[in-house]
Amino acid sequence: MVVTDVASRILALRDPSGNLFVVMYLGLKFFALFCAASASALDVSLPLSAPSAAQELSQTLISFSLEQDRWPDWAGVDSRNEFTYSALKNLADITGIPPKIRVGANSEDHTVWSPTVTISQASFPPPNTITPYPEATSIVVGDGYYALSQFMLPGTHMTWGVNFGLDNVTNAVNMAKSIIKAFGSAAVKQAQVTLDLMEVGNEADLYKNNGLRPSNWTVQQYVNDWIAISGPVAQAADLNPQGVTLQGASFAGQGFKVSQIIDLGILSSAPGKLITTISQHRYSGAFCSGGDFPLISFMSKASVRSNLTLWKPDITTAHSLGLRYILGIATSLSETGSIACHGAPGVSNTAGAALWVIDYALQAASLGITETFFHEGIGFKYNFFQPISLNRSTIDGSPLNPPQPARVQPSYYAAILVATFIGNSGSTRIVELAVSDSNVSGYAAFENGVLKRAVFINLHAWLASSEGTGSRPSVQIGFNFTSNATIPQSAKAKRLEIQHADDLQGLTFGGQSYETSNAQPSGGVVEETVDLQQGIELSATEAILIAF
Ligand SMILES: *[C@@H]1O[C@H](CO)[C@@H](O)[C@H](O)[C@H]1NC(C)=O
Ligand SMILES: *[C@@H]1O[C@H](CO)[C@@H](O)[C@H](O)[C@H]1NC(C)=O
Ligand SMILES: *[C@@H]1O[C@H](CO)[C@@H](O)[C@H](O)[C@H]1NC(C)=O
Ligand SMILES: *[C@@H]1O[C@H](CO)[C@@H](O)[C@H](O)[C@H]1NC(C)=O
Ligand SMILES: *[C@@H]1O[C@H](CO)[C@@H](O)[C@H](O)[C@H]1NC(C)=O
Ligand SMILES: *[C@@H]1O[C@H](CO)[C@@H](O)[C@H](O)[C@H]1NC(C)=O
Ligand SMILES: *[C@@H]1O[C@H](CO)[C@@H](O)[C@H](O)[C@H]1NC(C)=O
Repeated sequence: MVVTDVASRILALRDPSGNLFVVMYLGLKFFALFCAASASALDVSLPLSAPSAAQELSQTLISFSLEQDRWPDWAGVDSRNEFTYSALKNLADITGIPPKIRVGANSEDHTVWSPTVTISQASFPPPNTITPYPEATSIVVGDGYYALSQFMLPGTHMTWGVNFGLDNVTNAVNMAKSIIKAFGSAAVKQAQVTLDLMEVGNEADLYKNNGLRPSNWTVQQYVNDWIAISGPVAQAADLNPQGVTLQGASFAGQGFKVSQIIDLGILSSAPGKLITTISQHRYSGAFCSGGDFPLISFMSKASVRSNLTLWKPDITTAHSLGLRYILGIATSLSETGSIACHGAPGVSNTAGAALWVIDYALQAASLGITETFFHEGIGFKYNFFQPISLNRSTIDGSPLNPPQPARVQPSYYAAILVATFIGNSGSTRIVELAVSDSNVSGYAAFENGVLKRAVFINLHAWLASSEGTGSRPSVQIGFNFTSNATIPQSAKAKRLEIQHADDLQGLTFGGQSYETSNAQPSGGVVEETVDLQQGIELSATEAILIAF
């Protein structure tokens, strides 16, 4: 057979290991299969032991950022919000640690503390079709507001925002003291919820556009202002390097650069010495005035990469200074800071977005970003879940009668898949795999240096409108194990199955649905046995998780 002849010839050029022989043979076998069946065939090299370039893969890689105005809805007021708790617990059960929770965002800069308010009072502008769930214009909170942190899962690490937009030291100090008081309370301590960080100011690089500072406000003035507010905050709240520290930057984009504030000496100021984490925000598009944003342009391996490699210099700088680098992200951006957009219908709330989340979060991790905080708000389109029932459509604000119960949205499945990929070892590392297809990405996870899992994502968009245009495309992936260790023969796999990229529901992971009244999975687990010599077939708009 020609195939075997060629394989033997390659073999002769290399270390005469039986394993390698199998590998070479398989690669060619799939090439033959490709010619015969005209399915696209891809050979992917899978290292059995972690390459030195592998990055740490945090158990809290997928974490959440909550819009502060409706925090009580997420947490619960008289008792915990069972839906929130259950949805987060599914993830904690898989990775061993609950997702981190940051509360703040735009509304952090519209919040004031008052001694006479019990929990919170917020005023909201009227909804409209583009923004069915607008953010509060003002929020007044009391001590009880921060104490709701007791309703998070045990082991949750939190970040709380402090108002910098108002430029009022007294108010910033009041907020910080109230936050510290809550985390020192018996209820929050018993709940084993801890405060890691305070963030003084959200997206301050947009203040000059949204009226929180004059339009000629400079990065030098930002640094001075930040030190002037954060200094008293740090002192009043007794922040210290062994306890609660500060999150730096949290910029919306490139308005101010991390390198600029470092060059301006922010890190050598008293509060700057408490910065342990550099945070940046990243959105891949802008939907503020509505419009038709094609889902296909989002399901793009190239765009995911170009949106993230942008941050490489920042990541390198942060790491060289011993700082963590995290990203707060979502699928849309309030470009001018006038109206927050909360996602685009037909993109952010779709099954295709779930695939985007998987590729995006794992790509970020492969670049050395510790955590990705996906932004969530009540009724926002890009949410992983809606924690309360809603009586207005998140898509166009039309009345929902009866109201729609609390539910998970497609991106939630991405969190479950990524959690499973990470596992609970605490020693997981990640590398991206080279996959020579512009729509297919792949990653490998190692525990204690040994290959444990791989994920492949086929971003080729199969839309509802694709039905009737021919058969659904797929790729055939063959594995080329690179190492002298014993090559595994079989593995178990779970698929993230999606009917259409533009579906808003009906996904399953490993045969199970999370679209239930309490976010608990329904249906039996479907796990396939993969013959690693045969490889796998992966349909357009599908992801697969393989456990070796
Ligand atoms: C398998 O991997 C090895 C090492 O990376 C590489 O030299 C070889 O070309 C690969 N073979 C195929 C068929 O991809
Ligand atoms: C600053 O905040 C404090 C406390 O909320 C308030 O009493 C004071 O009036 C504010 N100062 C200004 C200039 O707004
Ligand atoms: C910025 O603008 C204000 C008026 O809004 C003006 O008073 C101030 O001098 C300007 N500062 C600089 C540095 O141009
Ligand atoms: C980011 O992603 C979006 C959507 O996929 C794309 O349109 C845009 O060009 C990307 N931006 C950059 C800077 O790569
Ligand atoms: C939705 O519920 C809120 C609060 O319960 C109420 O104020 C509002 O009128 C309701 N909206 C619709 C469209 O039913
Ligand atoms: C990638 O997917 C897009 C649809 O999302 C499709 O138009 C394109 O042909 C695909 N490219 C390859 C190489 O399969
Ligand atoms: C496998 O390769 C590594 C280096 O890549 C080497 O240290 C080890 O001794 C080899 N093991 C065997 C059994 O050949």
